[in-house]
Amino acid sequence: MSATCDVVVLLSGTGSNLQALIDSTRTGDSPVRIAAVISNRADAYGLQRARDAGIDTRSLDHKAFEGREAFDAALIERIDAFNPKLVVLAGFMRILSAGFVRHYQGRLLNIHPSLLPKYKGLHTHQRALEAGDTEHGCSVHFVTEELDGGPLVVQAVIPVELQDSPQSLAQRVHAQEHLIYPMAVRWFAEGRLSLSEQGALLDDTLLAASGHLIRT
Ligand code: GRF
Repeated sequence: MSATCDVVVLLSGTGSNLQALIDSTRTGDSPVRIAAVISNRADAYGLQRARDAGIDTRSLDHKAFEGREAFDAALIERIDAFNPKLVVLAGFMRILSAGFVRHYQGRLLNIHPSLLPKYKGLHTHQRALEAGDTEHGCSVHFVTEELDGGPLVVQAVIPVELQDSPQSLAQRVHAQEHLIYPMAVRWFAEGRLSLSEQGALLDDTLLAASGHLIRT
């Protein structure tokens, strides 16, 4: 078993992905330790989930800073106080500065509710339906300076049903997020997942452009 991997989670909202991560660390043999959860919103429900699990929390209001760089610099300070090996974005609704992304290069993961590179940004379920896609899903990726654009680690693919609404799709995609994010974080914690100049490596093998694919 590899040494414990301290993780800091950043979020802005309800934190169901944080909950899935917390639950996955309760198996006894998990190398992942969530050292802290940090939010730009003091009222984020995700902070309550963290407190309930006995995890340290911090909040840092971006509106109190003049500009993105100043906020990101303060955020880096808060994060690095916990000395994490990995930083996990779990619904953190902030665009990160290039300096922030570079600081955590190779140890910053994000989850996005679409099959990237399709539908970067918001309203992904609505957009997949409007396009008439027969498949939709979610992606875990390393974060680079391109928004929702870094090398893919894993994607979960679900079929789109005729009667689907954005809400029903969101629900099924969310369920998949709760499976693939803990899996990717665990790979990283076990030292199996890394970022190279060519892309994401799993067990020393370059992953396909789509990342590891899971179909349901
Ligand atoms: C998820 O849909 C994730 O893909 C996106 O933000 C949402 C966070 O949801 N990045 P939750 O707060 O984890 O429930």
